[in-house]
Amino acid sequence: MSADEPTQEIPVAQTIAAYDDQAAELAERYAKTDTERFFRWHADLLPEPPAPVLDIGAGSGVLADAFAKRGYEVAATEPSSGMAKESLRLFPSNGVLYFGEALPSLSILKATTGPYDVVVCDAVWMHVPPSDRPEAWDSLAELTKDGGLLTMAVRYGPHPPGRPMHDVDLDDFVAEAAANGFAEVKRSAPKPMPDQSDGSGFVRICFRKG
Ligand SMILES: C[S@@+](CC[C@H](N)C(=O)[O-])C[C@H]1O[C@@H](n2cnc3c(N)ncnc32)[C@H](O)[C@@H]1O
Repeated sequence: MSADEPTQEIPVAQTIAAYDDQAAELAERYAKTDTERFFRWHADLLPEPPAPVLDIGAGSGVLADAFAKRGYEVAATEPSSGMAKESLRLFPSNGVLYFGEALPSLSILKATTGPYDVVVCDAVWMHVPPSDRPEAWDSLAELTKDGGLLTMAVRYGPHPPGRPMHDVDLDDFVAEAAANGFAEVKRSAPKPMPDQSDGSGFVRICFRKG
């Protein structure tokens, strides 16, 4: 491929189908997330319950459930019906309001709910095709209250071939956030992927909407 040749984008539907196929195994794994650690790290950033919270790409629903159990009013969106089904099995009857929408548009969420004091979008951005990212930023901005918190775990570095992901350049990512009214307030140390030595990993970045 020449340097000028655009990288082929993977349609969102293909990504969702991959999650549907692997939902049972992935949801069990994601459900082991250490949510106490999440709340400790965000302790000085989160509003008191029952502030409204939105979890975008909620996966197993573990974090949405943890917010709900702390008394927050929680909405979550998970476009993979397989994952959403697993989340209802793993974390039933917790009062989380579920949607089935995907970034970038989130049109029903925007038309019927929000804005939210807290928006969480963990391990999702690498699935949003670059050409969809401007609209995705518009949606994040519309769904986050002024002064609200946007927290995102962002995957960096190479990704395994055959997995439906796109590159994320962290400098570009933060610049796009700033252009959409989000000022960075906290960033974690990079956390390398435990099972890979290719330089990939996750970093968490928190923003305040100005
Ligand atoms: C790696 S999992 C992360 C799940 C959860 N946020 C967590 O951290 O455990 C990515 C999730 O994002 C969802 N997803 C993929 N593309 C998406 C999109 N365009 N908009 C919203 N969610 C998406 C997938 O269905 C999957 O559940």
